[in-house]
Amino acid sequence: METVLKVSNFHKSFGTKEIHKGTSFELFRGECLGLLGGSGTGKSVILRALVGLERPDDGEIYYKNRKVHTLSESEWRPLRKEIAYVFQNGALFDSLSVLENLSYPLLRHTKLTQEEITKKAIRILNQLDLFDTEHLYPNELSGGMQKRVGLARSLMLKPEVVLFDEPTAGLDPKNTILIQEAICKLSKTDYTSILVTHDMSTALRVCDRIMLLEDNKIKLTATIEELKDKSHPLYEFIKGVQN
Ligand SMILES: Nc1ncnc2c1ncn2[C@@H]1O[C@H](COP(=O)(O)OP(=O)(O)O)[C@@H](O)[C@H]1O
Ligand SMILES: [Mg+2]
Repeated sequence: METVLKVSNFHKSFGTKEIHKGTSFELFRGECLGLLGGSGTGKSVILRALVGLERPDDGEIYYKNRKVHTLSESEWRPLRKEIAYVFQNGALFDSLSVLENLSYPLLRHTKLTQEEITKKAIRILNQLDLFDTEHLYPNELSGGMQKRVGLARSLMLKPEVVLFDEPTAGLDPKNTILIQEAICKLSKTDYTSILVTHDMSTALRVCDRIMLLEDNKIKLTATIEELKDKSHPLYEFIKGVQN
């Protein structure tokens, strides 16, 4: 199994507040790894560190065996095309149509023609159940559709790794299922991903492995296979995390 990302003994404090005290895990190629943890345990902090937006106080981060936690901002920039961070609120440009929003990263970062970009955009929109939305503007879409367009935009550059930060938070059940299915489909085909959620049922539906962040580190990791046993200790810990 190829390790795509490796976090080793990650420490991070803000002022006197210690958030991570030795968080360690590996992400294997092709898997969808769930990250569960209560609110404020540092889930977003670790994802931000994986795209160079937070620096560890101590510990290491490797991307494909390359040490990345010491890179400069300009060295990080090209890597962010390979590791996409899907923000909690993937803000779209209101003055641009859906197609223009999706085209934007490619016009900036690639030499593809608008025709090629349009083809790609429509394919990704269709995958996310967003048929015939390319000429609409964000304010003509429901909140759930906007979220899916945000997801579509982060996939346009075909990243190798996608970091989903609570992609279904605040969504109604129908959109939650659509996003979950999209992540499922994506993670079974082209991508390696980490899915942050505080919802165990989402994690069980979508992920291949699940890890729990508690007491400032990864406390437990289990495969979906292991979690078929409902007496697995992870379920005991999760009770305190849900809600
Ligand atoms: N840039 C920052 N400055 C100060 N405190 C921060 C910063 N980023 C995160 N924190 C704090 O770190 C803790 C973990 O944050 P976060 O990773 O966002 O939690 P969550 O697990 O809910 O995603 C929170 O207490 C938060 O207030
Ligand atoms: Mg968060």
